[in-house]
Amino acid sequence: MSDLNSEKQPLIQIRGLYKLFGKNSKKVMERVHKGESKDQILVDTAHTLGLRDINIEVNAGEIFVIMGLSGSGKSTLIRHFNRLIDPTEGEILVEGADITEFSPKQLESFRQQKMSMVFQRFGLMPHRTVIDNVAYGLTVQGVNKKERLEKAQEWLNTVGLSGYEQQYPAQLSGGQQQRVGLARALCTDAEILLMDEAFSALDPLIRSEMQDQLIELQSKLQKTIVFITHDLDEALRLGDRIAILKDGELVQQGAPEEILLNPATDYVEAFVKDVNRARALTVETVMKPPECRITAETIGEALKQMRKSSEEYGYYINDDGYQGIILQETLEEAVETGSNNNISTVVVETVPAIQADSLLEAVIPDTLDTDFPLPVIDDDGQLQGLLSRSSLAEVLSDSSTATSH
Ligand SMILES: Nc1ncnc2c1ncn2[C@@H]1O[C@H](COP(=O)(O)OP(=O)(O)O)[C@@H](O)[C@H]1O
Ligand SMILES: [Mg+2]
Repeated sequence: MSDLNSEKQPLIQIRGLYKLFGKNSKKVMERVHKGESKDQILVDTAHTLGLRDINIEVNAGEIFVIMGLSGSGKSTLIRHFNRLIDPTEGEILVEGADITEFSPKQLESFRQQKMSMVFQRFGLMPHRTVIDNVAYGLTVQGVNKKERLEKAQEWLNTVGLSGYEQQYPAQLSGGQQQRVGLARALCTDAEILLMDEAFSALDPLIRSEMQDQLIELQSKLQKTIVFITHDLDEALRLGDRIAILKDGELVQQGAPEEILLNPATDYVEAFVKDVNRARALTVETVMKPPECRITAETIGEALKQMRKSSEEYGYYINDDGYQGIILQETLEEAVETGSNNNISTVVVETVPAIQADSLLEAVIPDTLDTDFPLPVIDDDGQLQGLLSRSSLAEVLSDSSTATSH
């Protein structure tokens, strides 16, 4: 697995996965392949089609969200990842190895070391203390007591629960219990976290805090997280990519902005219609390429650069990044009078730069205050693009992209 291609290979690949629940699933699969509907199959054969022809790839280090309404097959799908459920058909590859072919022994060590799961109802052991719950995975792995308690303590500190080591789960609030669940999953150092509606049982405020905490942890840990939710806002907030399930079928997968801006079906469109785009989209997804970059060191050169562009203004960039805008008119005056060739004297510094990763919501006031498209910069101050009032208005007002063409 150390060949050059392995870098690009997705960590997890699900290929042609079908799950049919029922006694005679192999036989009934013929109907599935003929394209009969889930409902028809249920009525005729009392078999439930859990998943139909699922193909997904999860990359190392990403949060991959699986979203869908209750009964759409989310839990069935995620349980295939660690083979709590066996597929009726299809392949599940992790680092290129088909885990459906693992021996019981291989499977055991795979579950202990590669993946850990966080459950909706926390799944803590009520008669063990918080710290023993967190250390449990290490106990199973046979790690000695001193080491496992040290590690468990570290993870408890990380999730903000130091001081609660000797409490029992029932003494903690729901949010705290789920932090224990998270610490327990992280404690084994498993590379892959499976989270099945892990935040769905929590009150909205606590839930939002847990989302923040997960995002923060993930920026440090870079785990591969498969996160299940029925909540679109949660999916958009957490997901690097999102897969949407309906009645056991994958209806769309893509980055959050792709799903918001180009819903693949009426079903997805109905889902995304009410999303507050200003809160869900970043500047990056709406910005346009910069029209005119002025990099000249003299006014004469700057005017030459400006005349190549159709706009009457440009964005002045020096070694320190974006500095301000320059008007063509000002340059022409300066060249005419010939009195001044110092470019810094003609830079208008009142047009603020905005960050590419800001939410649209955060930049609306700046957009309204300024007559020029706002320069969008990256972390190094380099000009990435422009955000105009009109493109912002367009994306915020157009709530039904799929029907508008
Ligand atoms: N063990 C099972 N036996 C029969 N049907 C099942 C079983 N588990 C799930 N199902 C069915 O599979 C479908 C998907 O369920 P599930 O994966 O639990 O959905 P979700 O997690 O999205 O709510 C549902 O129709 C459900 O009734
Ligand atoms: Mg479920």
